[in-house]
Amino acid sequence: MRICVVGSGGREHALAHVLRRHHDVVVTPGNPGIPYSVDTPPQEVAAELTVIGPEAPLVQGLADHLRADGRLVFGPGADGARLEGSKAWMKEVLVDAAVPTATHGVFTDEAKALEFLDTMGDLFVVKTDGLAAGKGVLVTTDRNEAVDAVRGYLSGNAFGDAGRRLVIEEGLTGPELSVLAVCDGYDAVALAPAQDFKRLGDNDVGPNTGGMGAYSPVPLATDDVIESLMDDAVRPTLAALRRRNIDYRGVLYCGLMFTPTGPKVLEYNVRFGDPETQVVLPRIVDDLGELLVSAAEGDLNGRTPTFDDGAAVTVVCAAEGYPTSPRIGDRIEGLDNSSSINGVTIFAAGVGERDGHLVTAGGRVLSVTGQGSDVAEARCRAYAAVGELAWPGMQVRTDVAESPTMTG
Ligand code: AMP
Ligand code: GLY
Repeated sequence: MRICVVGSGGREHALAHVLRRHHDVVVTPGNPGIPYSVDTPPQEVAAELTVIGPEAPLVQGLADHLRADGRLVFGPGADGARLEGSKAWMKEVLVDAAVPTATHGVFTDEAKALEFLDTMGDLFVVKTDGLAAGKGVLVTTDRNEAVDAVRGYLSGNAFGDAGRRLVIEEGLTGPELSVLAVCDGYDAVALAPAQDFKRLGDNDVGPNTGGMGAYSPVPLATDDVIESLMDDAVRPTLAALRRRNIDYRGVLYCGLMFTPTGPKVLEYNVRFGDPETQVVLPRIVDDLGELLVSAAEGDLNGRTPTFDDGAAVTVVCAAEGYPTSPRIGDRIEGLDNSSSINGVTIFAAGVGERDGHLVTAGGRVLSVTGQGSDVAEARCRAYAAVGELAWPGMQVRTDVAESPTMTG
């Protein structure tokens, strides 16, 4: 089968890499570090299945356009993608589906927002309603910072229209977990669980990022935990979407927190996680393409993917200045030595080309995945490979998967 993967990051490289075990795959537009990239628009790529990676084209309705052309697509339409495109709407669906989640309020008015903020205890969570490239969430114990965020968001100064409506949430604490559920509109199956390291610095300090590393499997995500998540969150959510006439065929990414009062859904995304994909998919044993085709056709038909007994760890190598203002154009050294280490695969994200050499071209530049019989071995391989890589100002967390019970 010929499969077209839409996107240009490490997630799309990992998707294509794993799909290529069984199929002919191209990535559009890809990047110079993904060998099978093409610059043909997705509408013009002849493919039996199109898999859409990032949220922006999903929210903009690319899946609908392709389906209207008779294409088989893995990825929700614009209606379902609203789960990520509007956090206020996502919370409405969560509440309707009776999924355990943080209490919240939605505001466009500053005075009302500030009044609600003061009822939220001492951990303040302020989120833009709309897409803000992963930067629209503030979690802080500093009330002044939260108040400034409310003002900056609502005025449009901080995130333009994305913040003119905002969500204020109860601050939750506990370890986090990412579960990617493959949905066929009615039912879903969970892929192997992963944990993401969201903060820029070691020991979870510094700003939130798109994710600086991840590992899979996760000790606290037992089979029972995953089954409860499917029964208490994912299936009721699909049912709530169906009540709204939404046929959700794609990944539902559940961001969970294990709070002292039980697991709660922090957020849904409508796509594979990045960098979770870089640790989850390499562990799949069966044909990922067939699984995605059955979901795209609307009938998983009892398919449940199996994963190897080993582990995977990915470490993100980011450019200097990430996440605020990454410096680009630095030559990436050491790729050949790094990728020749046993059990290592390097996924290219913010990568460009100059004079025949790969250079940095974005915030998160490479995702270095090590696989091994357990997390310790996978981690050792990933960091050995990272040690071979260099460019000026490269940023790496040194504690990814150091202790698999860490909170991420
Ligand atoms: P989101 O994009 O909504 O997942 O938020 C990004 C990150 O912010 C999450 O992975 C959490 O680490 C943190 N976060 C989001 N919502 C909350 C909350 N209600 N309480 C505490 N932390 C949160
Ligand atoms: N790693 C978090 C995300 O993909 O949103």
